[in-house]
Amino acid sequence: MYISALTLTNFRNYDYREFDFAENTTVIIGNNGVGKTNIVEAIAYLSSLRSHRTNQDNDMVMFDKPYAVVTGEFVTNNGEEKLNILINADNSKKIKYNNQDVKRVADVVGRLNTVVFSPDALEIIKEGPDKRRKFIDVAISKIDGRYFSSLQMYKKVIRQKNKLLKHFEGEDRFLVLDTYNQLLAQNGSYIEYKRQFFIDCLNRLLSSIHQRLVGEKCDIYVEFESQVETRDRSYDEILADYTKMLDEARFKEIEKRSSVKGAHTDDIVFYYNRRNAKKFCSQGQQRILLLSVLFAQTEIALSETGESPVVLLDDVLSELDNKRKKLVMDYLREYQTFITTANGDDSILSMLNDYDVIEITR
Ligand SMILES: Nc1ncnc2c1ncn2[C@@H]1O[C@H](COP(=O)(O)OP(=O)(O)OP(=O)(O)O)[C@@H](O)[C@H]1O
Ligand SMILES: [Mg+2]
Repeated sequence: MYISALTLTNFRNYDYREFDFAENTTVIIGNNGVGKTNIVEAIAYLSSLRSHRTNQDNDMVMFDKPYAVVTGEFVTNNGEEKLNILINADNSKKIKYNNQDVKRVADVVGRLNTVVFSPDALEIIKEGPDKRRKFIDVAISKIDGRYFSSLQMYKKVIRQKNKLLKHFEGEDRFLVLDTYNQLLAQNGSYIEYKRQFFIDCLNRLLSSIHQRLVGEKCDIYVEFESQVETRDRSYDEILADYTKMLDEARFKEIEKRSSVKGAHTDDIVFYYNRRNAKKFCSQGQQRILLLSVLFAQTEIALSETGESPVVLLDDVLSELDNKRKKLVMDYLREYQTFITTANGDDSILSMLNDYDVIEITR
């Protein structure tokens, strides 16, 4: 798929701006702070309906304006599609898909599929488990609508359950707890099942992608850390264990006054030649590992949906040497790709055959 047009109204520093994009590579050039990343953010937002830079949607509304609008037109195997999102300063939003109102975010997540490479993405390796869960959740949500709905339901029920556990009183409290646990087991098991599936896909791809980027063999492996056994197990098998786990944890959770078991505690660990990458990899090694993970995500999106995702490279290439830049660009030849680069660093242009330049000036 590819995005053919983007219109921004009161979005970050753009009061009104229309862009047309070709199917090839678009290089966005401009000085620091002119709004290059803002364009990438808008495209990524159309895809996941959450910003990769902020958890507060209204941060994207231009200062002192009541709302922002992002409209994207894209071409998929189904033909032309259009997504229009209005973000109010109070954080509410209105979504239109092909000019029709859409009630559920789940109905439009991933219609436009993107993979985002940005320096912030290094947090996936460097920081806490919540960043890794966010990465894997966004990646799977864009290719599996049921996953996104399960996740929304799971998060909602966890909040309700925690509230119940904080003040565990009332006649029917055990009944309510069991109802919550049942919902958590159903949705949590699907989440675990799909997370394991995604990690299996990563493991099939990572070592060879990494080898293409560095030129030598290296063993890259991702391990899924979950409180239920998920490897080689069906959804029903996971559901049985998950249900039992929550049942057995009832009194502990009441004592702790919070939910201690389940998918919200998962983590994934990256191994580089059998050592934990977070602890033992250099900055450069972590960067290449991350590129490999994101390339793998791109391939998984293509094989699972039959659509090639749009690739967004924000400030990533400037960190790489020329040989690696060339390898990255060769790798991405099949995909519509957006690259941001600061003024003066146009070494990338000599490596591309077919590209457009958008120069942002103030
Ligand atoms: N809500 C907002 N309203 C108005 N302007 C905003 C808003 N949020 C951010 N900006 C402005 O957007 C600009 C930053 O844009 P962006 O991050 O896209 O720059 P960039 O071109 O990617 O820069 P760099 O080369 O440093 O990465 C800043 O000038 C900032 O003040
Ligand atoms: Mg930027």
